[in-house]
Amino acid sequence: MFAARRALTGAAQRRAFSASARDMSKVTVLGAAGGIGQPLSLLLKLNPRVSELALYDIRGGPGVAADISHINTKSTVTGYDPTPSGLAAALKGAEIVLIPAGVPRKPGMTRDDLFNTNASIVRDLAKAAAESAPDANILVISNPVNSTVPIVAEIFKAKGVYNPKRLFGVTSLDVVRASRFVSEIKKTDPVDENITVVGGHSGVTIVPLFSQSSHPDLVGNADLLQRVQFGGDEVVKAKDGAGSATLSMAMAGARFAESLLKAAQGQKGVVEPTFVDSPLYKDQGIDFFASRVELGPNGVEKIFDVGKVNAEEQKLLDAALADLKKNINKGVVFVAENP
Ligand code: NAI
Repeated sequence: MFAARRALTGAAQRRAFSASARDMSKVTVLGAAGGIGQPLSLLLKLNPRVSELALYDIRGGPGVAADISHINTKSTVTGYDPTPSGLAAALKGAEIVLIPAGVPRKPGMTRDDLFNTNASIVRDLAKAAAESAPDANILVISNPVNSTVPIVAEIFKAKGVYNPKRLFGVTSLDVVRASRFVSEIKKTDPVDENITVVGGHSGVTIVPLFSQSSHPDLVGNADLLQRVQFGGDEVVKAKDGAGSATLSMAMAGARFAESLLKAAQGQKGVVEPTFVDSPLYKDQGIDFFASRVELGPNGVEKIFDVGKVNAEEQKLLDAALADLKKNINKGVVFVAENP
């Protein structure tokens, strides 16, 4: 009898634990009605680790929320009006805030060309997040990521709530693409292709390290390098003015959010590529860098260094660092001049 009650208590405790872990997982999407925002919100609705989904956009948030809310998974979905109070309510209590708000590229544009429009969008959303969700993990998707992440950092610093362990530039798509492109060449399953990609998220700042993969012969494959660094351009060109990667990006963003939730809920050894406040090149004046990062309940748990690279990859890395420095500085200067 006693043993049975103890067993029951154990089960109840386990249920209570998993329920409370789930209860905490409010995820907010800012830019939820956009090309990325909609499929991203859909994928988050399908994720049992998400208990509450908050969808905000300057237009169309409640409509997307009404649609997604009919999907028969347990999480609640709320769309918020495009007002300061709507934004504050969307953010309050969030564990994860994903930001895909802003304009995408058209053919012929670089990500840096988006800066003028997206810098102020991200700045304003960061201000709202710093006020209403200062402890949330902030996942920046809006481009140019190399500059928008430093913008968020500067705003959080100005508000006195900056926690470098909770700010992430989402670079997962670069790794998703690299593993897919390699698998196409090698006729393998992409799931088995672990390609490390470091640096940042645009053109030459995207540095795949094939020497560290199971296919070191791919170092020097110019076509493959071009595809990994400029894969986004393939999509922009094919969409012919109708935007950039949205569906593959939604998958990559949802994967990153899922990894953070897994880590927050106690799973060990969760590693993702991401652009974070990083010690790796601070001595060269570069405060943010994308590398493999172990995630934990406090966000960034451990930042892996770049590891062994060959001479060819070192050249790519040097080019990336030079660009990164300028991109990061541009974000910092923007906030200083347009606080
Ligand atoms: P989109 O134009 O389809 O959607 C953007 C959404 O943001 C729109 O619904 C718009 O109403 C909303 N928005 C604009 N200003 C806002 C504000 N102040 N507050 C809330 N919502 C606001 O664009 P798409 O294709 O979804 O791309 C979004 C961003 O993601 C772009 O900057 C794009 O360059 C970037 N991107 C990033 C990738 C990455 O790997 N990190 C990959 C692909 C795109």
